[in-house]
Amino acid sequence: MAVMDGFSLAGRVAVVTGAASGIGRQTAQTFAEAGARVVLGDVDEAGLAETAGMIGAAAVPLRTDVSRRADVDALAAKALELGRIDVWANVAGTAGPCPMLDVTEELLDRIIAINLKSVFWGSTAAARVMKEQGSGSIINISSTGAVSAPPNLSVYAMTKSGVSAVTRNIAREMGPFGVRANTVSPGFVETPLATWSYRNPDGTLDEAKRADALRLRRGAAPLGIIGEPTDIAYAMLYLASDASRFVTGQNLYVNGGVTMD
Ligand SMILES: NC(=O)c1ccc[n+]([C@@H]2O[C@H](COP(=O)([O-])OP(=O)(O)OC[C@H]3O[C@@H](n4cnc5c(N)ncnc54)[C@H](O)[C@@H]3O)[C@@H](O)[C@H]2O)c1
Repeated sequence: MAVMDGFSLAGRVAVVTGAASGIGRQTAQTFAEAGARVVLGDVDEAGLAETAGMIGAAAVPLRTDVSRRADVDALAAKALELGRIDVWANVAGTAGPCPMLDVTEELLDRIIAINLKSVFWGSTAAARVMKEQGSGSIINISSTGAVSAPPNLSVYAMTKSGVSAVTRNIAREMGPFGVRANTVSPGFVETPLATWSYRNPDGTLDEAKRADALRLRRGAAPLGIIGEPTDIAYAMLYLASDASRFVTGQNLYVNGGVTMD
């Protein structure tokens, strides 16, 4: 179907961080289904191997701690072994829930490093290559939580606001070289990161608290639903592909209408 050609990633190389789980895993699978070879970074080696196994020959996994610039540069170098970098999706993140008055310097530094420094170094590593190519799409994951002021997530919200802010700067500086940069801000998707408020100390889920939390989440959305990883991955595919060639510096909320602009 010719209309779908605009969404094709055939012949493209895409880097996805946070690819061992949740939204990153689904994004990697969706990009691969659209024809890309996908270079996958995550600290979780077992999860990464599982994602790579699901995708098959098009996947190149590399253990990457996105909070370390050297690791991010190594991920870019790995992708360049495939000849080019067309798409770079910064998906890895952490919530680090904590009441504001209890946040330690160590926790603050860790969340900033994983959620924000990672995006800066990932985006600049990608932009350096894409500038030479004269094309490329950078997609950074922020969160609806950046603007909804969720309790116990002050540092998370602070870093996610930084993500959408710096993405606009990347779009401004790199646009003249054919490089686009956009943010996707998901609403609630039930992944390991998002279930902290109803997880027991042993890692299992408290089903009563879960039912309450999901009811509240659905109630907050005009559409009355919570998201699936595919809901986010389809938005990522749009921004990764030529279908969005006229779109840069934008922040796309994929959240059932929890926020509107
Ligand atoms: N799930 C939601 O409701 C939701 C909502 C808004 C935004 N987000 C954002 O979506 C992104 C993906 O989260 P998810 O919901 O899929 O959660 P997830 O827990 O399923 O996945 C997060 C991934 O990030 C990886 N990661 C954590 N620290 C890392 C590090 N230092 N280096 C490399 N990888 C690291 C984890 O190993 C994991 O695979 C995050 O940036 C998150 O903030 C999620």
